Amino acid sequence: MKKILLVLLSCFLLFGCSQVEEQEEIDTQPPTLELTKQRIHVDIDATIDYTSYILSASDNEDGDNMIDEVTYNEIDTSEISNQIITYTLSDNAGNTTTQQLIVDVVEYLNDTYFNPETCVGEEVVDPTDITVLVNKLHYINEDWEPDDLVSVCDNQYIYLRKEAAEAYEAFYNAAVSQGIELYSISGFRTYETQETYWNNQKNVYDITYASQYSAYPGRSEHELGLAMDVSYKTTGNRLSESVADSDIGKFIASDAYKYGFILRYPQDKTDITNYNYEPWHMRYVGVELATYLYENNLTLEEYYGE
Ligand code: DAL
Ligand code: ZN
Repeated sequence: MKKILLVLLSCFLLFGCSQVEEQEEIDTQPPTLELTKQRIHVDIDATIDYTSYILSASDNEDGDNMIDEVTYNEIDTSEISNQIITYTLSDNAGNTTTQQLIVDVVEYLNDTYFNPETCVGEEVVDPTDITVLVNKLHYINEDWEPDDLVSVCDNQYIYLRKEAAEAYEAFYNAAVSQGIELYSISGFRTYETQETYWNNQKNVYDITYASQYSAYPGRSEHELGLAMDVSYKTTGNRLSESVADSDIGKFIASDAYKYGFILRYPQDKTDITNYNYEPWHMRYVGVELATYLYENNLTLEEYYGE
């Protein structure tokens, strides 16, 4: 009898323990899959190096380097378009993680700049957000205009949104108190004004030149009421790279972030912003984000993973 009880007890313990072990082995944690970017733009007929956009692929059970196991759909770059690459990683337990990369297929006009007239892009969701990204691929609805525009401190005919105008006044006063001469040149622009600027640049020069310096209507930060062009003089070639060497150009580069503005189109990031160096163009994003971007040497595109 004792023997039978012992055998039964052993069986129960063995069976019970193995059940506990089995329960512990169930892996419900999905793998980790990170991409280097959320959105990229490529030229028509570009060959995409799909795996180059995978930053990491790992799993708690299956290993740290699973890049070879990531699958993805291939896209057709033969036409201007806006497409999505979906990357998928599954672990041995069947858990799956996916990440998406938006790809804008655009028409390059030279090595660096693409044509804003032909690209597809995407309408911005909230143009009132002071941190919103507006560029050749993120456009504002033609009918939208800010409802809180006010004149800036040194020119009653130039407008910014109220919050940006107040920040600009603080920036302006700080510059003046250091003996720096500065003039507001251009603030808020309507869609129609931007259209006139774009057409003029295109007609006087050509589309390749216009694409480097002027935004296509709907795609200018000036239409947000959050961008301000400043110079050290009011006449002549006011918006040229000579602004960079002036006291105000240096002050923008070193101090604008303290007032919530960023130097939006830096010299060394033209391939990312897709605009030439504009040492005169300040964009208001608020002190917190401006400080973060300044300290990390990031453009707004890089901040948004583009
Ligand atoms: N110059 C900048 C890109 C604009 O037109 O908004
Ligand atoms: Zn500007």
